[in-house]
Amino acid sequence: SPIMTPDLNSAKCEELTSGIKNYPDALRPRLCRPPKLGKAIKDYELPKDGAVCRMRWPAHDNRDEKTYKENVEKYKLGIHLMRTLDKTNPNHPHSFSQQAKIHCAYCNGGYTQEGFPKMNLQIHNSWLFFPFHRWYLYFYERIIGKLICDNTFALPYWKWDDPAGMTIPEMFIAEKDDSAVFNNKNPIFDKYRDARHLRQQTVNLFFSPNGSELESKRQKACNLSMVYRDLISNGTDWKGFFGGEYVAGKEEPKLQGSVEGNSHTAVHIWVGDSTQPNREDMGNFYSAGYDPLFYVHHANVDRMWKLWKDLKKDFPGHEEPTSDDWLNASYVFYDENEELVRVYNKDCVNLQDLKYDYAESDTPWLKSRP
Ligand code: C2O
Repeated sequence: SPIMTPDLNSAKCEELTSGIKNYPDALRPRLCRPPKLGKAIKDYELPKDGAVCRMRWPAHDNRDEKTYKENVEKYKLGIHLMRTLDKTNPNHPHSFSQQAKIHCAYCNGGYTQEGFPKMNLQIHNSWLFFPFHRWYLYFYERIIGKLICDNTFALPYWKWDDPAGMTIPEMFIAEKDDSAVFNNKNPIFDKYRDARHLRQQTVNLFFSPNGSELESKRQKACNLSMVYRDLISNGTDWKGFFGGEYVAGKEEPKLQGSVEGNSHTAVHIWVGDSTQPNREDMGNFYSAGYDPLFYVHHANVDRMWKLWKDLKKDFPGHEEPTSDDWLNASYVFYDENEELVRVYNKDCVNLQDLKYDYAESDTPWLKSRP
């Protein structure tokens, strides 16, 4: 039967130890359960027809300067307000660290499965990877929209599948910001990143800690071929693309889908600070959500799912799993109204239902068959 996240109000919370070095002096908190607000879980209702569609935008594209600036300011303001909540009301489910902890709770043994108190819940390394992160970002985006009073707010995505986007997007780099609203600090800056990879260094979609780095032009060409592999050569069916089956009462299959295992993980490790014991923040599950870049990276990962599905005309295997075990697997989140809601994989398959989308964009990797 399908995996279920337990009720946050009753499930117990363990300190996380799995996969974290330097325990117990880790850089980020290891108690990751969401705040208990005594609310009953409701099944989530999708936005009504007629709700505006949020258009996620490529983070590097500043050709239309005015729109770009407006978008960046909105995004920074949202994160600034989340960080402010951390100070005024740290148990607020919309605070910056509570949002970051969601990732930790679902990834390092923060939950056991509903009905199986001895079984960990881990949403990586299996077919839960894409749908879980889709829902996580969905609520994150709506929460920011709520905080800045803009129900059209959409996240940027880090378009690392396009040579023009293969560096850490500019807006994340500077530590300072001119705006007094943000206390002259850039709210989307994070100091736990690999210093060698800031400022125009080309991302390496093959990255492994001991590997060597290529000269930029070759790196870009290799990156395109990695995206081709992830979406086409190795993603011929749902098993290749989503990862292995994971059902209630079982351990995770440790079978990653193509994107999860390759480009996605490479970016995490490449961004994380190699001088920290767990490559905080991006290089470990428990800390990744503390870098605002995480959500922008994952927006692109989520876009890969859409692009993969759009290729169905030519590649008929490009279909989501159809078994009940996948369709009815579910997670629990606080939504933008602080309601505790349960959401299902089956409800996140169509972006039209979720009222967000990715602006049309070119896909140069399609011509990069390795
Ligand atoms: Cu939940 Cu990119 O990992």
